[in-house]
Amino acid sequence: MAKRNIRTNSDEILRKTCKPVKEITPNILTLLDDMAETMYRANGVGLAAPQVGILKRIVVIDIGEGLVEMINPVILETEGTQTGEEGCLSIPGATAVVTRPNYVKAQATDRDGNLFVIEGEELMARAICHELDHLDGVLYTDKAQPGTFRENGMMEAE
Ligand code: NI
Repeated sequence: MAKRNIRTNSDEILRKTCKPVKEITPNILTLLDDMAETMYRANGVGLAAPQVGILKRIVVIDIGEGLVEMINPVILETEGTQTGEEGCLSIPGATAVVTRPNYVKAQATDRDGNLFVIEGEELMARAICHELDHLDGVLYTDKAQPGTFRENGMMEAE
């Protein structure tokens, strides 16, 4: 495994739409491993492929309950709302207040090519929404409540 460089701030790759993964090749498996290592070393709770410069629909999440690898993830259902501070490894040191669903049900393919469904509440729901937004070039700052952006926030970053 190798740590990769995290793209930040105005890097235009963060604004691109990612392409679906058609085949799980050895390169994809290496990318999954590298993304997890990069996320853990940065003390993040999630990371999306465009954040390491790869325009593919892949995210990794670990909110402290184990690593979840998602290839071609899709949100199936959402319920409720939560409003709270959010950060991103691509916008270092900053936070803002974002409203997200409080419950999310999503589907993705795992590294063995099997489809799985995952449900999450609170931080997990927030992380799934945040990471999937990255795959469409959307950053949390696009959805933040006006006036809540802080440059020196401290919290889990995605
Ligand atoms: Ni992020």
